[in-house]
Amino acid sequence: MHKLLVINSKGGSGKTTLATNLACELARAGHVTALYDDDPQASSTAWLQTRPESCPRIYGINPHVIKQNATRSWQQRIPPETAYYVVDSPAGIALPKLFDLMRSVDTVLVPVLPSTIDMHATDAFILNLMKACKIKATPVRIGLVVNRLRERTLALRKLENFLASVGIPIVGRLHDSQNYVRATDQGLGICELKKGFRQEYDAWAGILRWLLQGAAPALSAARSQPLPLPASPEVPRRPLPSPAPSPTLAPQVGGFQRLPPHY
Ligand SMILES: Nc1ncnc2c1ncn2[C@@H]1O[C@H](COP(=O)(O)OP(=O)(O)OP(=O)(O)O)[C@@H](O)[C@H]1O
Ligand SMILES: [Mg+2]
Repeated sequence: MHKLLVINSKGGSGKTTLATNLACELARAGHVTALYDDDPQASSTAWLQTRPESCPRIYGINPHVIKQNATRSWQQRIPPETAYYVVDSPAGIALPKLFDLMRSVDTVLVPVLPSTIDMHATDAFILNLMKACKIKATPVRIGLVVNRLRERTLALRKLENFLASVGIPIVGRLHDSQNYVRATDQGLGICELKKGFRQEYDAWAGILRWLLQGAAPALSAARSQPLPLPASPEVPRRPLPSPAPSPTLAPQVGGFQRLPPHY
């Protein structure tokens, strides 16, 4: 199982948006996917509760909602064939909790907004993330995702300069778009909207390529075929952009790739 942590100590940077959309993309590709909501605000749990049954299933786990009549481990169980385990984390995470979360993850994605306040907060957070990587026994890949991008703004130029100095690759650039808000309201990922995905196609293709090139999940025979999928959004079928230069902080493993059908 490949564990993927979406994290930034800064509130509102897009952790839940990134985590829920990633879970959708992976589930649509036929991977058995679980979404762990580590935030007491329970935003991704609320999103999952509105998800239509006709969409590819995502298994939700919320450690903050524990029923009295069942054990914690039973309530947090996931199918044994789970290939991807996406963790949506809370804002304002303290160092001990960060160390704890990092212990078992394979990949970390950090959404960052193009604003001076967010850059400052992210700078401090990345230093802590690096500390957590150093004490980790197994390698971890880290990628930055620029979120709520508006083309040709001063804020974006500042952010790109800042991120270039951080030394962690930018693996995706998501536009500031009401389509993310619309999709979230309906329990969908942006790729599942009938209209509105076109602008984000390249960004998600890039994120998935980066993600899947470093992940080799064990798929059960039962899941060797993609799940039945809802009608694909109206997006062109065109070749993927060439992958970014290897953005690993540690050696990559595997070469497994299974992209969703709309790529
Ligand atoms: N690319 C985007 N375009 C437009 N709106 C967005 C985008 N990304 C996030 N948002 C909106 O910004 C708000 C904050 O996003 P989100 O909840 O994903 O952030 P978060 O980091 O999970 O917040 P918190 O720290 O409170 O958990 C939400 O209303 C969300 O719909
Ligand atoms: Mg959130």
